[in-house]
Amino acid sequence: MNHTKLLFLWICMLIVMILFQYVLDKNRKISKHCLIRNTIILFSIQKYTNTKQIFYLIIPFIIEFIIEYYHSKGISIDPLENKVKNMYSYFSIFWSPCMGKNDDLTEGKFDNNISKDFDDAQRDKKLELVALSGASKNVKILEVGCGNGSLLSYIKDTGADVYGITISKEQYELCKQKGLPVGLINFFDLDESHNAKYDSIICSGVIEHLPNVSNRQDIEVFYKNLFFRFQRLLNPHSTIKKIIITCIHFRDYTKLTDPWSRFNIYMLERANGGWYPTDKDCLVRSANQYFNLEYRRDITNDYYISTYHWAKKFIEKGPKTLLYQLVNSIINFVNNPYYIHIIIEKLYSWQWQFSDKNHSILWDLLKGKLQSNLHVTNSPVIHQLLVFKMK
Ligand SMILES: C[S@@+](CC[C@H](N)C(=O)[O-])C[C@H]1O[C@@H](n2cnc3c(N)ncnc32)[C@H](O)[C@@H]1O
Repeated sequence: MNHTKLLFLWICMLIVMILFQYVLDKNRKISKHCLIRNTIILFSIQKYTNTKQIFYLIIPFIIEFIIEYYHSKGISIDPLENKVKNMYSYFSIFWSPCMGKNDDLTEGKFDNNISKDFDDAQRDKKLELVALSGASKNVKILEVGCGNGSLLSYIKDTGADVYGITISKEQYELCKQKGLPVGLINFFDLDESHNAKYDSIICSGVIEHLPNVSNRQDIEVFYKNLFFRFQRLLNPHSTIKKIIITCIHFRDYTKLTDPWSRFNIYMLERANGGWYPTDKDCLVRSANQYFNLEYRRDITNDYYISTYHWAKKFIEKGPKTLLYQLVNSIINFVNNPYYIHIIIEKLYSWQWQFSDKNHSILWDLLKGKLQSNLHVTNSPVIHQLLVFKMK
């Protein structure tokens, strides 16, 4: 009798998961990790109700711990790239309505001026990236990780022949609606027809997502292969031959050994997918075989100030998207294995990484204004703008 009831409940659970997923968000498939997790929770509650033995309530935690352990080793029930896709799917519900026309998912260019207008800063960032890329009529540009397409449209306006790629279906659809030339494709799946095609490549806030838990042990080998791929995509006869990168790096990963840092780094990885270069020169070293570093700037403050503005805009305009967010939470709760991680990461760990002992984004938010002496030098991460020229 109990088994029949359990089976009935399990079928109901499955139907709910399928309905939530396919009716509310048909862009994604049911997560196998969540199917296992929800099944075990159901089984444990049923067993506990019958036996009142507390042990049954601990079982879901043990199973989750085992799944997490193997995930850390790169053995995952769901595809590893799902973390990146799920996170942007979660974001796309409220990001553009809250941010308006500058719905970039990366920092603006504030030039350390805390009173600078957010929209001006986002415009100036894009103008700088356009200038650095050499975009002009007929110049061929690849934007890897084009997000909601804001930079893509600036590049297109120069008359350049631009192509943007993203791994997020929601971003792809938004870019298509805006009439932008975009592909829904993983960077690693770009085929040979792209080889030797581009004058320059822009990666704004993307490199952070590219490694995963299975290749972060040999991270420099991974980045060397990445630059090898970049080198193949660039046209060797072009006079430009540049890669423009903005990327968060650990200042020094070996120093982040305390449990609190480990906890926040774990949250950042599980929520966003990817990994950061281990120190500020890591990408430069890895690029060395094919590229010379032409320009570098520390833009950590830009991310700090942008994050402050994003949080303020979200607090201001977020309530208007409350219904969407509610629907979003339901889908994510049943079908995103790392939903809780995303919430913790967005509430705390994202801010933690850009703050140092003199500056805290959360504290500034509570006080309602940014500190005038802003100069973040000891945060766990450093954000850098890097421009490489092919040898
Ligand atoms: C932080 S967002 C930056 C978006 C945009 N560059 C901007 O500044 O607003 C990262 C982007 O990288 C894309 N991305 C992540 N991993 C990718 C991959 N393997 N292949 C292609 N795009 C990827 C995401 O879909 C997203 O568009």
